[in-house]
Amino acid sequence: MFRKIPEQVQRLSVVVAIIIAGVVIGRYVILPSSLTDTRFHRESTVQRETAKTIQFAGASVCAACHTDQAGKNRAGYHKTVSCEACHGPARAHTEDPSLKPTKPKAREFCVFCHAYDPSRPTGFPQINPVLHNPLKSCATCHNPHDPVPPEVPRECSACHGQIASIKTVSPHALIGCTSCHSVPAKHKVAPRSVRPTKPEAREFCGQCHAKESERKDAPKIDLPTHGGRFLCWDCHYPHRPERI
Ligand code: HEC
Ligand code: HEC
Ligand code: HEC
Ligand code: HEC
Ligand code: HEC
Ligand code: HEC
Ligand code: HEC
Ligand code: HEC
Repeated sequence: MFRKIPEQVQRLSVVVAIIIAGVVIGRYVILPSSLTDTRFHRESTVQRETAKTIQFAGASVCAACHTDQAGKNRAGYHKTVSCEACHGPARAHTEDPSLKPTKPKAREFCVFCHAYDPSRPTGFPQINPVLHNPLKSCATCHNPHDPVPPEVPRECSACHGQIASIKTVSPHALIGCTSCHSVPAKHKVAPRSVRPTKPEAREFCGQCHAKESERKDAPKIDLPTHGGRFLCWDCHYPHRPERI
């Protein structure tokens, strides 16, 4: 009966048998039980982790002794930045206040979060550290626990530097920001909650660019047909318009 099995199948079954035997021996004989016993493995992980010393005290502990800083921090722009994000792990300090945490006074520290980086969300307060008051520590002008900018800036470029510098070298250089955006005074104090308007319709650009417009220095288009039904800024970046 064995003879009837074709020879290539016999050889193949020898190979398969060796593989199975290898796996079984490897799993149950060669590998140490610490690698295969999942219960043992989980137990030792818990032991390993609980043996580590805890270095962070947690966000709520500091307020008990530092009411002044904690109150400011909670109400200000840095409310989402925890004390220990800036002062480093400080559990030892909460047990013995003479072990002082670090005070991050170097400009590089603030710049870590606030240097201009295009991958950061629009509206996150960013500065160019080379140009922004380069010779002084940030804390001389901004209280780190309540970092309101010391004065309300007059120019749009203080906060929209990139848009302003793009526009300066564009055909719209002489068109002021406020001819296209109406900006409530409060926008400069609470920019994220009080917002300026933005143009909404093609007719807005048509004021200067439609054939009928009286504005002489602006090149003219046929408003009903040019660009079809799309908004002008689907094709032309309004802060640096081009003929394309
Ligand atoms: C048990 C009370 C207590 C707690 C809790 C506490 N501190 Fe303090 N901390 C002090 C005292 C007291 C000093 C002043 C030490 C001195 O000047 O001799 C101090 C000083 C400091 C300083 C200034 C160090 C310096 O060089 O001037 C920093 C920063 C600080 N604490 C941060 C923290 C942070 C962050 C936490 C929370 C993780 C915290 N503290 C929790 C009591 C406390
Ligand atoms: C954005 C970073 C940042 C955060 C968040 C922060 N601090 Fe500070 N803190 C600083 C810096 C920088 C200084 C040094 C200021 C100086 O010397 O002018 C400082 C100084 C201090 C001092 C010394 C006394 C003083 O006011 O100069 C204490 C105490 C302190 N911080 C506690 C806290 C506590 C408590 C919290 C959380 C509620 C906290 N800090 C959150 C950056 C921070
Ligand atoms: C861990 C990141 C982090 C660090 C470090 C940090 N900040 Fe901030 N900062 C923030 C966040 C988050 C906000 C709030 C942004 C918002 O409201 O959308 C903020 C807001 C601010 C603002 C308010 C700007 C505005 O919108 O008017 C200033 C000024 C500021 N930080 C200065 C500092 C200074 C000075 C330091 C160094 C002592 C510092 N930051 C360190 C994260 C950080
Ligand atoms: C000489 C004072 C001074 C120093 C030093 C200073 N700033 Fe400012 N900062 C200002 C003023 C004034 C403003 C208001 C906007 C303006 O006019 O540029 C401001 C605005 C800001 C803003 C808000 C920008 C926005 O888009 O909302 C951030 C963030 C900021 N500073 C971070 C820093 C950091 C980080 C440092 C240290 C590297 C620093 N500043 C050093 C005076 C200062
Ligand atoms: C103190 C800083 C600051 C100043 C000064 C400032 N802005 Fe803003 N502006 C902001 C911030 C922050 C946002 C929010 C960006 C976001 O969340 O995407 C914003 C948003 C805007 C928007 C977009 C509104 C929207 O709904 O998308 C326009 C338009 C604008 N600003 C125009 C201006 C003009 C024009 C000026 C000058 C007259 C000006 N801003 C001055 C900080 C400022
Ligand atoms: C010719 C008209 C025009 C001028 C001048 C102009 N803007 Fe705009 N701006 C627009 C239009 C249109 C949009 C909407 C674009 C969109 O929705 O894609 C816009 C959008 C914005 C936004 C929202 C974010 C973005 O990039 O889409 C900000 C912020 C802004 N403008 C700031 C400014 C500032 C600051 C100036 C002056 C330096 C300025 N604008 C000048 C037409 C203008
Ligand atoms: C207040 C009048 C005014 C408004 C509003 C205006 N523009 Fe202009 N625009 C001009 C002037 C003036 C020029 C020509 C400047 C020059 O070349 O000397 C111009 C030039 C242009 C050009 C031609 C660029 C080139 O390379 O020749 C385009 C495209 C353009 N604008 C698009 C727009 C769009 C899109 C809007 C609406 C978001 C708009 N403009 C709103 C005045 C305006
Ligand atoms: C579908 C894309 C598209 C849309 C939408 C669009 N444009 Fe254009 N625009 C172009 C192209 C492509 C050119 C260059 C070729 C030409 O002159 O037709 C141009 C050229 C221009 C010029 C320069 C004309 C000249 O003779 O120098 C102006 C000004 C202009 N557009 C304004 C506008 C305005 C205002 C709107 C909104 C009413 C608008 N565009 C909508 C694609 C578009």
